[in-house]
Amino acid sequence: MLLSNSLAISHEIIKRVVKQGDTVVDATMGNGNDTLLLAGLVGEKGKVYSFDIQEAALKNTEKKLREAGVSGIVELICDGHQNIDNYVPNGIRAVMFNLGYLPKGDHSIATKACTTIEALKKSMELLMDGGDITIVIYYGGDSGFEEKESVLEYIKTIDCKKYSVLVCDFVNQINCPPIAVCIEKIRK
Ligand SMILES: C[S@@+](CC[C@H](N)C(=O)[O-])C[C@H]1O[C@@H](n2cnc3c(N)ncnc32)[C@H](O)[C@@H]1O
Repeated sequence: MLLSNSLAISHEIIKRVVKQGDTVVDATMGNGNDTLLLAGLVGEKGKVYSFDIQEAALKNTEKKLREAGVSGIVELICDGHQNIDNYVPNGIRAVMFNLGYLPKGDHSIATKACTTIEALKKSMELLMDGGDITIVIYYGGDSGFEEKESVLEYIKTIDCKKYSVLVCDFVNQINCPPIAVCIEKIRK
């Protein structure tokens, strides 16, 4: 089902866009589910850069990738995604952001509006023409409201001559359903 949830929408976009041999980024590694998806899509000739600020995320993801036999495709980076330009070359096909905190982890260690927006700006520069950024915005309970507002405000200001921005919001659902966003760099 395409419209089951925002995560599924982001995965559908990524599966459509990412090809074997591509260079891509998981900006919020967490437990490595998106990193594993990306590694499968780019294959042995491709490269995935995956960021998180928590050692626990790197440990969980390293194990997941080893079990799947795809560790060689992925570079795990223990640093904030706002420093993406220190690690990642120009011309990447896609960047995935899955905002919020590590599932079953400390809710206070979560993505924050200012660093998320800094990372988005740098990611847009690094994207190849036609490349895409997906963002799943989680909010509700004890966190995420300020980041959600700031990101949704920021993306409205992106130059429409250079990028297309799509927001998918499940407007008839209850309990703060996650929002999916896609930013695509327009081909010149
Ligand atoms: C919702 S989780 C990501 C889930 C992940 N995509 C998965 O498949 O399991 C968000 C992650 O972002 C991480 N994070 C928070 N601030 C960050 C930053 N500035 N740079 C990179 N990662 C960050 C958190 O540590 C957390 O693991």
